[in-house]
Amino acid sequence: MNSRSPLGVASLLFMVLPIAIISSQAAIAATVVEHNVVSLGANPDGVTGSTQAFMGAWLAACRSKRPAMIIVPPGRFLVGGATFNGPCKNNAIHWRIQGVITAPADYNVLGNVGTWLLFQNVDGMSISGGILDGRGAALWACKASGKNCPSGATTIFFSSSRNIVVSKLMSLHSQLFHIVIYGCQNVRLQGVKVFASGDSQNTDGVHVQLSSRVTIMNSKIRTGDDCISIGAGTTNLWIENVACGPGHGISIGSLGKDAVEPGVENVTVKNVVFGGTQNGLRIKSWGRPSTGFAKNILFQHAIMYNVNNPIVIDQNYCPSNINCPGQYSGVKISDVTYKDIHGTSATEVAVKFDCSLKNPCTGIRLDNVKLTYKNDQQPARASCVNAGGLAFGLVQPSSCF
Ligand SMILES: *[C@@H]1O[C@H](CO)[C@@H](O)[C@H](O)[C@H]1NC(C)=O
Repeated sequence: MNSRSPLGVASLLFMVLPIAIISSQAAIAATVVEHNVVSLGANPDGVTGSTQAFMGAWLAACRSKRPAMIIVPPGRFLVGGATFNGPCKNNAIHWRIQGVITAPADYNVLGNVGTWLLFQNVDGMSISGGILDGRGAALWACKASGKNCPSGATTIFFSSSRNIVVSKLMSLHSQLFHIVIYGCQNVRLQGVKVFASGDSQNTDGVHVQLSSRVTIMNSKIRTGDDCISIGAGTTNLWIENVACGPGHGISIGSLGKDAVEPGVENVTVKNVVFGGTQNGLRIKSWGRPSTGFAKNILFQHAIMYNVNNPIVIDQNYCPSNINCPGQYSGVKISDVTYKDIHGTSATEVAVKFDCSLKNPCTGIRLDNVKLTYKNDQQPARASCVNAGGLAFGLVQPSSCF
């Protein structure tokens, strides 16, 4: 009988709590202003231009002091080049996308503008769901044929923005890069999917540059260029649970393109899988003077399936041998750890450190690395030029420091 009294209190709480939760949800719902693009004139038929309706929804959301929800219902929406500018009067704009947003079928419409969907100076925004179809196949074919083609447009570009969350977005067939994060702080991509043909040119999955505190989690990237490329001025980047392939791998670089550029610092890449990619974990710099650098990099728990260059540092990048022959990279690479990296290399040299004569790589650590060649049939090799470091645990191929 004594236990009845606490139970009574508990059941009383259970009766009161739901009411409190419902009323707080109602309070939130009441303050969020919804803007449905269809109500604003967007047409879900995929052929009628809906750019104006999307811009109208953005302006209404951005100019209001109240939190806003922009709703893109199911259907296909044709949107041309669109720039969503901040700063906004509120920092809680949420896009709920259920439909597909498609780029113009003719790549000449976006031509050389560089970006398709551009967000600038936005603070506090989330995007969830949706498919962005860049319709890049015709432009890839043009580029592959060697004709004179426009450069194309990045599908979604975040510039000078902060506090952005993108979840469960799918980006298909971009003309150029899929997702770019440039000059941003605190951006989180989660559950993102990127798909483009393995032989499409310059269709990097995610490119991060001049940005801090970017997180890329639980994502699948299959594309024709780098799955993730990390440019100068990237700090405090976290990449976890990413599957890459086809593609060119996860790449820091190319660094040192400019004589004066900021460095890359504190990058963590963990729990990644590469399938049939050109590279796995790569650091790449131009072979010419620069103030750039890369330091405090951790690559941990990676699995490679038939990857051409599973672990590679290449400091002699000099495409078409223009403006770099005979020079040495000024980019200093230090404190790079490869820990628990396993799998198969498609070429004999599974580990390659080709560092700068002027700025040798220092503080490279190989810790439990096991890579074999030809699906385990043959031992792989490691190659070191101007590279110094230490090996721990089982390291195969054995280190060449
Ligand atoms: C490195 O970056 C992570 C985020 O990726 C952050 O949590 C951590 O504090 C940073 N470390 C340093 C020393 O700045």
